[in-house]
Amino acid sequence: MTEDTHPQYSTKGMPFRRLGTSGLRVPLFSLGGWLTIGGTVVGDPVKDIIKMAFENGINMFDNAEDYSKGKSEKEMGRVIKELNLRRTDLVVSTKIFWGPRDGPNDKGLSRKHIIEGTQECLERLQMTYVDVIFAHRCDITVPMEEIVRAFNYVIEKGWAFYWGTSEWSAHQIEEAHHIATKLNLIAPIAEQCQHSMFHRERPEKEYAPLYKKYGLGTTAFSALNFGILTGKYNDGIPPDSRFAKEDMFEGMANEDKIRKVRELTKIAEALGSTPTALALAWVAKHPTTSTVILGVSSAAQLRENLRALEVLPKMTEAVMQQIEEVLGNQPVPEDNHGRPMLDKLGRL
Ligand SMILES: NC(=O)c1ccc[n+]([C@@H]2O[C@H](COP(=O)([O-])OP(=O)(O)OC[C@H]3O[C@@H](n4cnc5c(N)ncnc54)[C@H](OP(=O)(O)O)[C@@H]3O)[C@@H](O)[C@H]2O)c1
Repeated sequence: MTEDTHPQYSTKGMPFRRLGTSGLRVPLFSLGGWLTIGGTVVGDPVKDIIKMAFENGINMFDNAEDYSKGKSEKEMGRVIKELNLRRTDLVVSTKIFWGPRDGPNDKGLSRKHIIEGTQECLERLQMTYVDVIFAHRCDITVPMEEIVRAFNYVIEKGWAFYWGTSEWSAHQIEEAHHIATKLNLIAPIAEQCQHSMFHRERPEKEYAPLYKKYGLGTTAFSALNFGILTGKYNDGIPPDSRFAKEDMFEGMANEDKIRKVRELTKIAEALGSTPTALALAWVAKHPTTSTVILGVSSAAQLRENLRALEVLPKMTEAVMQQIEEVLGNQPVPEDNHGRPMLDKLGRL
């Protein structure tokens, strides 16, 4: 590789991957704001978290218009400004679907809401553009052509450089690609999907043909299964934890998962690591993962989670196999979606 064809760059020890087939380089671990930034964490602790992230090579920050009803974007934008971080050094993503208000056009993926929602995100973030804008879910009440055209308009206006999907079915992603190709428009470059040791079907089975066909990359979320994979729920629900504060997690830390977390802890300890770092590194290990979005409620949690980078090189095939034996949930990837894949010459 020569410098004139492959520019070198400094990474502060963080591996970088391309986001799908795009030229955008994203850090293997990024940071998100759901429930935490602007929610359970406000003020100076947010600054501590973002400062530590940036100093450790995490330059990608993820948000959404609905996170803490817009407060997450505001808090993230404020801190990025106060830390005087250079915008070109950052990759910022946000998501449109659940607008923070309740009017008939304040949510979903109509052209109106995609455009107005994006403008409001930028105001809250105090930025003139985001790098990637995601459709937070697929709005089945809006024609796909309207959705694809509206995200392309946002890109043409310079309010985002790329667009992606989040928790869309493989079929919906394919439809967006077909329309974009037919109309010579930009297709989504990435999927923001849930992926963890306990949640594997969609990223490892349903999307398998899309990785081959479109080079889809994922920005994986809830890699700790909301915290369960840290082991913090092994002996009940700690009062200051997410599960103690939010009803939506009721019953999730069940006996089967806790038993597996205890087994995974033994594997992690044998590698001189923690179950948290192991679980994060396990998602990062998948070649189709472009970035694993971390969620933390303190700088101390972030420090521990960054240990995933230390255990990653120790995750040999034998270790991965040991983990599979504990999990017992490996999906069989789909080959195609009903039709065989043809190569470029039309051969089976
Ligand atoms: N596109 C989507 O639909 C979608 C959905 C969900 C998330 N996301 C994105 O993905 C990001 C991460 O998701 P997530 O927050 O669910 O991820 P997660 O990593 O599964 O859970 C994060 C939570 O686990 C606990 N935790 C993390 N590290 C810990 C440690 N070292 N020790 C003890 N506890 C620890 C903390 O909860 P406590 O409060 O208990 O401390 C933290 O808030 C979000 O911020 C968001 O950007 C996207």
